[in-house]
Amino acid sequence: MRAIIYRDTGGPDVLQLVERDLPTPGPGEVRVRVAVSGVNPTDWKTRSGATNPKQFPEVTPHLDGAGVIDAVGPEVDQSRVGQRVWLYLAAAGRPTGTAAEFSVVPAEQAVPLPDEAGFDVGAAIGVPALTAHRALTVAEDGPRRLRPGALDGTVVLAAGGAGAVGHAVIQLARWAGATVISTISGPDKARLATAAGAHHVINYREGDPAAEIRGIAPDGVDLVAEVALGANLALDLAVLRTRGTISTYANDGGRPVELDVRQNMVLNTRFQFLVLYTVGPQALAAAVEDVAAAVRDNALPVGAEHGLPLIRFPLDRTADAHRAVEGGAVGKVLVDIGP
Ligand SMILES: NC(=O)c1ccc[n+]([C@@H]2O[C@H](COP(=O)([O-])OP(=O)(O)OC[C@H]3O[C@@H](n4cnc5c(N)ncnc54)[C@H](OP(=O)(O)O)[C@@H]3O)[C@@H](O)[C@H]2O)c1
Repeated sequence: MRAIIYRDTGGPDVLQLVERDLPTPGPGEVRVRVAVSGVNPTDWKTRSGATNPKQFPEVTPHLDGAGVIDAVGPEVDQSRVGQRVWLYLAAAGRPTGTAAEFSVVPAEQAVPLPDEAGFDVGAAIGVPALTAHRALTVAEDGPRRLRPGALDGTVVLAAGGAGAVGHAVIQLARWAGATVISTISGPDKARLATAAGAHHVINYREGDPAAEIRGIAPDGVDLVAEVALGANLALDLAVLRTRGTISTYANDGGRPVELDVRQNMVLNTRFQFLVLYTVGPQALAAAVEDVAAAVRDNALPVGAEHGLPLIRFPLDRTADAHRAVEGGAVGKVLVDIGP
């Protein structure tokens, strides 16, 4: 099979296209013929050596993907052969990510993909939607599970709603019944966040975004899903309701975070930091189930018309796909692999 690998961490040029033997699924594992591989910022950060230490002599990157199960290992129901699936965390703690014609993963990390959902949806949901689910289910008074109606009556602020995770936050929050406000940096991204389902979009770079958000939600927002805590903390606290939650999945821009303890005591702020790798099996399983239900409801569509333009590369240009994500591509970067 054709596979992308890297042996040393570094820039995108460490990625090579090679021929490898077909991997054999072990006990409890399935082998998936990958149709589309999804690229996330964590993939290039891991490849660069900046974040997770490299654990294997040779690594095929990418956590997300979608395809069809073509073989199962011992202890896995044989009837799963031929099943369309989406994959999550394929390359987490394993050397067999989705940037290859075949990927082997534990059976539970291959989730059935309904016939109506394309492989593009399947390859776009793993990291972004599971992260968004966690961000939306950590409020003190809020639900731990998402379903239609679960967030009725709540106001969610999705920071950076034109980003891949921000997009999933908007879609899942809308599906669950929340009123969704999204910040964006300009008119193009405003159109994308609106197409994703945001009720209100606010340009955080001009005017008085706090006053605009307070105008929409006079009692404050219940939950902020935050991509740039250092840059946005003052805004978040200016619009958060008492006992509201700030779920932080990134600090893009790298601005340091300085907490005014008294201000947060008075607000009874709840801060929840999250990273998918250590979210724990219970939260992960809940997220997978709820995201799968949202996919069945066609609540997580992708493409420019749904607020997430698709930017495609063939397998032999995976390095360019990484460059695109690293360069801040607007939308979802996908690598086309299978038929
Ligand atoms: N914790 C986790 O488990 C987890 C999971 C997934 C991703 N992440 C991290 O989350 C970040 C985003 O990932 P992604 O895939 O969504 O990337 P992305 O598609 O590039 O989106 C990032 C978005 O953040 C926006 N943004 C940047 N600074 C902002 C600010 N100050 N206020 C509001 N919006 C801002 C950007 O737009 P503008 O700059 O135009 O505003 C952009 O739309 C990355 O750092 C990634 O590594 C973490």
